Amino acid sequence: MKNKIIVSTGIILSLFIWACGGSDSNNTASSEAPSSTEVSNDEKGIGSVKHVELTNPLDPAMIESGKGVYNLKCSACHRLTKEKLVGPGWLGVTQRRKPEWIMNFAINADEMLNKDATAMALLEECLVRMPNQNLTEADARNVLEFMRNNDGEK
Ligand code: HEC
Repeated sequence: MKNKIIVSTGIILSLFIWACGGSDSNNTASSEAPSSTEVSNDEKGIGSVKHVELTNPLDPAMIESGKGVYNLKCSACHRLTKEKLVGPGWLGVTQRRKPEWIMNFAINADEMLNKDATAMALLEECLVRMPNQNLTEADARNVLEFMRNNDGEK
């Protein structure tokens, strides 16, 4: 009986660790069908952000502000690696998602978790609803710049 409990706890734990968009297989070219969380690269999400003008090169002041927002409001749940904490690690997020989707989700998580198919699939994997973070559009834009920097863009 005791053994059974230990085994099933182990299975449940590993589900939590691997089931939230953090596995390495996301980035390898394989013949497996893509998971629901990586097929969305043409979606802009739901919210006020319809079009993002990207900087080239990256804007250091925006990266710095975005880092401040990250430290204050996001780092409790998101790592900058691929590793899952409460939510998915951010490494590669700017390749997985359109900039508009990222900003809309950062501003409007609650509505998107109810209506956006990609966000709903993420919630199914992570099992925790990301609370709205009360970001302004400028905050969200700065965080996006910080994420692009974290993903190695110049
Ligand atoms: C309380 C924990 C928590 C905090 C704080 C949090 N998030 Fe999240 N985030 C999540 C979870 C969990 C998910 C996965 C979707 C879900 O289950 O709601 C997520 C998903 C995301 C995604 C999509 C990631 C992907 O791989 O597609 C983005 C972008 C994001 N969060 C941005 C932010 C930003 C920006 C902040 C800070 C302003 C933030 N989050 C703060 C928990 C959190």
